[in-house]
Amino acid sequence: MEVDWERLVEEGWQAREAAYAPYSGFAVGAALLGGSGRVHRGCNVENASLGLTVCAERNAVCSAVAAGEREFAALAICAEGAEPATPCGACRQVLAEFAPDLPIVMAARGASRRARLSELLPSPFRKRRA
Ligand code: THU
Repeated sequence: MEVDWERLVEEGWQAREAAYAPYSGFAVGAALLGGSGRVHRGCNVENASLGLTVCAERNAVCSAVAAGEREFAALAICAEGAEPATPCGACRQVLAEFAPDLPIVMAARGASRRARLSELLPSPFRKRRA
């Protein structure tokens, strides 16, 4: 699928607007392009019990799957900072369940970086299905 990276990054910034991050102050947005062409958004949702926080990327995956989408073509992750934020290990594993070679753009305001999920997580845990 042809990916409009600029548009996907723009959706990632828009998704970031909904972030609930009163504890860290670090708002993150994610825009996940599905095989259907739909874009599924996610933002980080923190909790007073800090370990219950869910990252933007995992929220985007869950939102997409709940909408019936399981094939993914690209992901944009948007956060402020001098360097683009890379997805945490837990999110890498969750993304790899559906798209182990997913192309990803990580965007900060003035810089961006592209990588494939297979580079960021070369050996995800896979459960063999019977
Ligand atoms: N966070 C994300 O949403 N995605 C990432 O890739 C890295 C971290 C969130 C979790 C927490 O709400 C805040 O950023 C600070 O760690």
